[in-house]
Amino acid sequence: MKYLVTGGAGFIGSFVTAKLIENGHSVTIIDDFSSSTKETVHPKATLVEGSILDPAALKKAIQGIDGVFHLAAEVSVPASMKNPQKTLQVNALGTLRILEAMKSQKVDKIVYSSTSAVYGDRGQTPNTEDLTPRPLSPYAYSKLQGEYFIKTYTHLHGIKSVIFRYFNVFGPGQKPDSPYAAVIPIFLDRIRQQKPLTIFGDGTQTRDFIFVNDVAQANLLAMQSDFSGEVINIGTGHAISLLELTKLLNPTQIIHEPAREGDILHSSANIEKAKTLLSFTPKTTLQEGLKEML
Ligand code: UD1
Repeated sequence: MKYLVTGGAGFIGSFVTAKLIENGHSVTIIDDFSSSTKETVHPKATLVEGSILDPAALKKAIQGIDGVFHLAAEVSVPASMKNPQKTLQVNALGTLRILEAMKSQKVDKIVYSSTSAVYGDRGQTPNTEDLTPRPLSPYAYSKLQGEYFIKTYTHLHGIKSVIFRYFNVFGPGQKPDSPYAAVIPIFLDRIRQQKPLTIFGDGTQTRDFIFVNDVAQANLLAMQSDFSGEVINIGTGHAISLLELTKLLNPTQIIHEPAREGDILHSSANIEKAKTLLSFTPKTTLQEGLKEML
């Protein structure tokens, strides 16, 4: 089959691309390299360089495609606090543009990467997909808007869809070198440089960390599935606090700074739906995944 991976040079997109190619599929990538470089473009993938907001680039990328894995996004919560309009444009309007391109080129199916951030703060109870979303940041809102556009196009135009709500994805290739980078690559980089780790808040906030290869596997399972319009959590079902995370890493020093605006306190996944509908179970533990990043 021939698939389009939006953001295919990015952290998760490059793993999805590699797994598709390993499985004998052909892949086109559309990427504007806003948070990645050409080095992470798979050598066997076809590249369309451009933004998902550019209809001409999208049209070129989507021709002859059997299905779309939509991962191109602004992924940072703090970046969305600083520039909400950009986040909304890329994540919400960008998703709409992809759906429009799919409709006009008669592309049948989309697997969409949304986020557990749409749940907001629910305490330590694992989030189930039927909870009413309570986005706490423009980032969470923009991803939720993307979900709603997809559901609308599934309903109106019969585009088949699977909507994933990822918890905290980590793994090799995740960049530490931006103020908007994710916590694990930042911490590992600081440890390498023998610098102290900074925890925003008291460190009791919890996250459910899922290894990137497991997320890529879930994407392939979703594309092969025959249901549509479902929202599915992708996490491990186990959350740990940031203080517990730092214990696994043995830092020389920990510094506390005020909690980040828009930050969620507790985030943990109920993954029964992924198990039932996709026969998905994560294979890599946090400890195993961290070793692959060292
Ligand atoms: C992350 C993802 C987001 C995804 C969401 C799913 C990134 C950049 N963000 O958001 O795309 O949709 O999970 O729930 O991948 N922290 C520190 N010190 C640091 C860096 C972060 O204490 O140096 C804290 C943050 O304040 C936060 C936690 O670590 O409490 C996780 O932060 P981060 O890795 O940025 O991820 P999320 O905001 O959870």
